[in-house]
Amino acid sequence: MTGIFNAHDFQRKARQRLPRMIYDFIEGGAGDESGLDANLAAFRAWQFLPHRLRDVSRRDLTAQLWDRSYSLPIYIAPTGFNGALRPGADAMLARAAARASIPFALSTASSESIEEIARAGDGDKWFQLYVLHREISAAMCCRARDAGYSTLMLTVDVPLNGYRERDMRNGFGLPPRYTPRSIWDGITHPGWSLDYLRHGVPKLKNFETTGTQNAEVQAALMKRRMDASFDWDALAGLRDLWPGKLMVKGILRKDDARRCADLGVDAVILSNHGGRQLDDTVSPVAVLPEIAAELKIPVLIDSGIRRGADVVKSLCLGAGLAGIGRPALYAVAAEGEAGIDRLIAILRDEMDRALAMLGVAALSELEASLMRCV
Ligand SMILES: Cc1cc2nc3c(=O)[nH]c(=O)nc-3n(C[C@H](O)[C@H](O)[C@H](O)COP(=O)(O)O)c2cc1C
Repeated sequence: MTGIFNAHDFQRKARQRLPRMIYDFIEGGAGDESGLDANLAAFRAWQFLPHRLRDVSRRDLTAQLWDRSYSLPIYIAPTGFNGALRPGADAMLARAAARASIPFALSTASSESIEEIARAGDGDKWFQLYVLHREISAAMCCRARDAGYSTLMLTVDVPLNGYRERDMRNGFGLPPRYTPRSIWDGITHPGWSLDYLRHGVPKLKNFETTGTQNAEVQAALMKRRMDASFDWDALAGLRDLWPGKLMVKGILRKDDARRCADLGVDAVILSNHGGRQLDDTVSPVAVLPEIAAELKIPVLIDSGIRRGADVVKSLCLGAGLAGIGRPALYAVAAEGEAGIDRLIAILRDEMDRALAMLGVAALSELEASLMRCV
């Protein structure tokens, strides 16, 4: 894989290979898209304050979450409609995560079904839940449990879909809108288009396989609209329903984080959905220290992680694991399964270097005094 040294290189390559409509779907943010830059800038605002003259000849990147152990302190964040990037992208991500011994989170809006991905490798799999309708959610939770997913990740920052203007301008959606521009877009990206012609329009497989006869449920599925009435009582109900570990994704306030913990949630994920939901929403890394300092349950984070050093910063500030979102999509779009393996190897190397140069031999030694906010 020539010319690929970091996540940005994968991004450039993905941009070349994908039609603009698809690249914009990955990259686009809500409104004026200020959240995208802000998330990256929020990481740069934290700088390292390294120790010197310590023995760092052996370094260990093994991470712990509850009683589980992972080879690296990262997981693949849930992303919907991955089949639009490359046929089989969900399974590619799941297999690469399993090979690297890190968790993979499958989106409710995945292109391959809960069961298909369960069969793709034996790594630790998490299921991300969007609540469109309570009955569908309960059925999906049962399917995920039966298929062996260890963890349920409830996303709570999408009461409505984000206002993503790139997608609206491009006519992105299901079914796709064919316009002279989108057809030209396809012609000028033949590698992607050949895949598309061979495999057809990517589907939202979990929605197809619910097997419900209830008309109201079918209408909710057709519209793909979230249940905006889902509240704390509903979360308590979900806690009773799901026997495994439960995470809540999209938390940004200390009071909400505390309330999750009080309800028996096992971890919270600080996230602003990569700037795709409400523009000008605080970057998770800015609120991480205050939330992690207080909370007794693990705090995970995503939104803006592009380098191994960003992961290390997150851990210094109290995070347990960091979620890799867009970079994994760039990698799978650009180079397929080998691309994801390479991305994980790059992140591993970047984390390892950061540890050595911070004077730290293990993740458990990372702490806030190694950071300064400028
Ligand atoms: C194309 C795309 C699709 C996404 N789909 C989902 C999804 O289905 N469920 C979910 O909880 N989050 C989804 N997310 C949000 C990611 O899980 C994660 O929060 C976000 O990508 C982090 O920002 P970053 O990628 O800029 O680091 C999606 C993000 C992208 C870029």
